[in-house]
Amino acid sequence: MQALAEGTIFASRYRIKRRVASTRSSVVYQAAHCDLDRLGAIKIKRASGANSGLSVVQEGRILASLHDPGVVSVYDCGLVDNRGYLITEWAHGETVASLIDRGALTSPRAINITASIAHTLHKVHTQGFVHRDVKPSNVIVLTSTGNNDCAIKLIDFGVARALDHINNGTRKSAQWGRVSGTLAYMAPEQLTGRRESIATDIYALGVCLFEMIFGSTPMPVTSENAQAIGIPSESAPFLFGGEVVVRKLLEEPVIPTIDGKMTTINSLLTYMLRRDPNDRPATMHEVGECLDAIALAPSL
Ligand SMILES: Nc1ncnc2c1ncn2[C@@H]1O[C@H](COP(=O)(O)OP(=O)(O)OP(=O)(O)O)[C@@H](O)[C@H]1O
Ligand SMILES: [Mg+2]
Repeated sequence: MQALAEGTIFASRYRIKRRVASTRSSVVYQAAHCDLDRLGAIKIKRASGANSGLSVVQEGRILASLHDPGVVSVYDCGLVDNRGYLITEWAHGETVASLIDRGALTSPRAINITASIAHTLHKVHTQGFVHRDVKPSNVIVLTSTGNNDCAIKLIDFGVARALDHINNGTRKSAQWGRVSGTLAYMAPEQLTGRRESIATDIYALGVCLFEMIFGSTPMPVTSENAQAIGIPSESAPFLFGGEVVVRKLLEEPVIPTIDGKMTTINSLLTYMLRRDPNDRPATMHEVGECLDAIALAPSL
């Protein structure tokens, strides 16, 4: 699909302001509603056809059913040139990914941002959904409007699922070799098509916290020929974006030793990144409370 130029009127109501992102699956624009003069984010899927339309309806319905200030509100969804589009509230701020690109965050900031994400995800979980794609580019840290400079908006519920569907087994489990999500942040059970749960989001948030503190993810993804390098039996070769990519599953990530004062963060990271979902914290609430306590500890 051709890029939309600034000033183009989209869906009869939105004036395109600028293109903000171009991902593997979609293009995102910032636009203003012509009458209401309110900003929105327009995500247009690259794929055309019925599935493209269905995927935005699915994402839109999940967003419409969630009520939390930490989750973007949905305005509309539909089809343009046979491609699905979704319009959401514009989140004023910067993604965690772009904060990390400018260098690892200070520990207190990383902890406060992660606590905000954990509290929001807990609400998402209690409202019956798993996000399944928690990663730095799917979290926007809002421009400070007062004393909280770590408030967030969670975006991109494109692969989110109802917990009921997962628990009742009505969702087809991921097939070996065909996964959706983002490899570096995916929990072992997600990579191997085993049952996902809120623990899957807890693992991904652990990877995010690790990356905010250390500047890189704990289990780097290599993009190599799986056959050529010989894959250990429990590693997963995946066809991802047309490439065979490999991420080891056998080991748990090594958490670098950090300053003595931060051993609690180290323990929390180890706990969140356990290979077996049953060995991780039971709820996001527990994670959020733990982070709040760490943030308040005078030693930090
Ligand atoms: N509501 C919003 N407010 C501000 N920026 C947004 C918003 N929605 C999306 N973006 C920007 O667009 C980027 C891509 O959006 P989104 O994650 O929804 O697309 P995607 O195609 O599902 O991405 P991917 O599949 O790579 O995770 C975000 O990382 C963010 O920079
Ligand atoms: Mg995204």
